[in-house]
Amino acid sequence: MRLDKFLADSGYYTRSEAGRLIRRGGVAVNGTVVKDPSAKIDENTASVTAEGRTLGYMKFRWLMLNKPEDTTSTTEEGDSKSVMKLLPPEFSGRDMFPCGRLDIDTTGLLLITDDGQTAHNLLSPKHHCEKTYRFTCLPVDEDAVAKLEGGIELSDFTSRPCKVNMTDPEHGEITVTEGKYHQIKRMFHAVGSEILTLERITFAGLELDPGLARGEWRELTDDEIAVLMKHNG
Ligand code: URA
Repeated sequence: MRLDKFLADSGYYTRSEAGRLIRRGGVAVNGTVVKDPSAKIDENTASVTAEGRTLGYMKFRWLMLNKPEDTTSTTEEGDSKSVMKLLPPEFSGRDMFPCGRLDIDTTGLLLITDDGQTAHNLLSPKHHCEKTYRFTCLPVDEDAVAKLEGGIELSDFTSRPCKVNMTDPEHGEITVTEGKYHQIKRMFHAVGSEILTLERITFAGLELDPGLARGEWRELTDDEIAVLMKHNG
């Protein structure tokens, strides 16, 4: 692959920063300074140092975003509310996309990646990957909670059994293993309640980092990626 692309993919530089740095003589490949941004290197074996730092090639990127309200989970360029607008330009050269959808008013854990195959596997209905949401709702009683947990017949599908933990009649957490359109809102509507706020706090074994304010993101750690890969069966 091209040397400037390798540098950009490492996450430290944009493609144009990488080009400038290479031309200035700031990058060495296997100990030799290379000043041609288009020089071809083998990303699997080359040792690339830039400004004294040895860079590893990151094939895929995984980000955890704390999605704020009034943002959409689309990748459309023209959508000014897209969560993709919260990321810096270094990611624009990669085909990053949100791993799954949250409604415009749902907040919390949203993964963003360019690893299409793993994302596809995690989102596949076959995988029953767990997601927990913290919610506030119009009051529900024990009967309604039992119905939610047992599975609710909706117009186009019946929800799978799930776990609901209420802290009081208007607050709780629900863990589901599927992700149909407006699913949780529709389930609560079906038992005579309404969801008022919804925040995703776990996804496929990962927990929303409490250190991330709404709208903030960070790279997943290697351990978190390992957890995802376990769910990637
Ligand atoms: N269920 C919903 O109703 N909305 C979401 O955003 C996620 C799950």
